[in-house]
Amino acid sequence: MLEGKNVLITGGSRGIGASMVRSFCKAGASVAFTYVSDRSKASSEEVIESCDISKGNKVIAFQSDASSFSSSETLVKDVIEALGSIDVLVNNAGITKDTLMLRMTEEQWDQVIHVNLKSVFNLTKHVLRPMIKARGGSIINMSSVVGVFGNAGQANYSASKAGILGFTKSIAKEVGSRNIRCNAIAPGFIETDMTEELDEKTKEAFLANIPMKRLGTGDEVADLAVFLASDHSAYITGQVLSICGGLNT
Ligand SMILES: NC(=O)c1ccc[n+]([C@@H]2O[C@H](COP(=O)([O-])OP(=O)(O)OC[C@H]3O[C@@H](n4cnc5c(N)ncnc54)[C@H](OP(=O)(O)O)[C@@H]3O)[C@@H](O)[C@H]2O)c1
Repeated sequence: MLEGKNVLITGGSRGIGASMVRSFCKAGASVAFTYVSDRSKASSEEVIESCDISKGNKVIAFQSDASSFSSSETLVKDVIEALGSIDVLVNNAGITKDTLMLRMTEEQWDQVIHVNLKSVFNLTKHVLRPMIKARGGSIINMSSVVGVFGNAGQANYSASKAGILGFTKSIAKEVGSRNIRCNAIAPGFIETDMTEELDEKTKEAFLANIPMKRLGTGDEVADLAVFLASDHSAYITGQVLSICGGLNT
C-alpha cells in the first residue's frame, strides 16, 4: 500500500509508534522515526531489527525532541537528505502527566502541551513547504478519544489532544487544494507503556465502557495509519477517526 513513499514518524521507539514503524515498512515504505530519551536508543535498534524491509527500502532512527522547534527543523532536513522526501508525516510523540487540576503544576501543564501539541505545529510547519513543492502529502496526527470527550485527571492531556483536532481540521482546509491531506486518529485504550501507567480505577472504568470489552493493540492503530497514509484514503481529509472498540459511541 505504501510502495515508493517516505514516512517520518515521531516517537517510534515504543508503543503505537513502534507498531507503526513495522507496519509502514511491511507496507513497502521507507521510514524515519524518532525517540527522545537516551534509554530508548537500544529499543529503537530493536525496532529497526524487527522490520521487514524490502527492495532497498530504509528504516532509520533519529534522536530528536519533537517539542523543540529548531530540532524539528534540523530533523526534517536530515530526513529529506536521508530518504529524498517526506511524503507522510505521523505526529505520534506524546506523554502524559496525569493529575487532578487542583494538584496540577504549571510544569505538568507546559510539558504536556509542548510535547503533545507544540510538536505537531513544529513538524507540520517544517514538512509543509517540501510537501507543497512535491504537490502532495499526508499528515496524520495522534489525538485521543479523551481529546473528544475529556477525562478527569487529564486536563492537560485532553486539552493537548483537543488542540490537535482543531489544528488538523485547519491544516486540512489550508492545504487541501495542494493535495495535502491532514487527518487525526483518536485511539481509545491501547496496550502500551502509556496505559500501563494509568491507575487500576481508571483502567477498570475504561474497560467497563468499551463495547468490545478489550484494549486495542498498537498493530490495530498502525493499520489505520497505513490506510490514512496510503492512496486508498485519497479523498479523506480533515477527519477524526476513532479507533476505540466502540468506546466513543
Ligand atoms: N496508548 C494509548 O492508549 C493511547 C490512547 C490515545 C492516544 N494515544 C497517543 O498515541 C501516541 C503514542 O502513544 P503510546 O501509548 O504508544 O506512547 P508510549 O508507549 O509512551 O511511547 C511514546 C513515544 O513517544 C516518544 N516521545 C516522547 N516524548 C517525545 C519527544 N519530546 N520527542 C520525540 N519523541 C518523544 C517516546 O520516545 P522515548 O522512548 O525516547 O521516550 C516513545 O517513542 C501518543 O501521542 C499518545 O498520546 C495513546
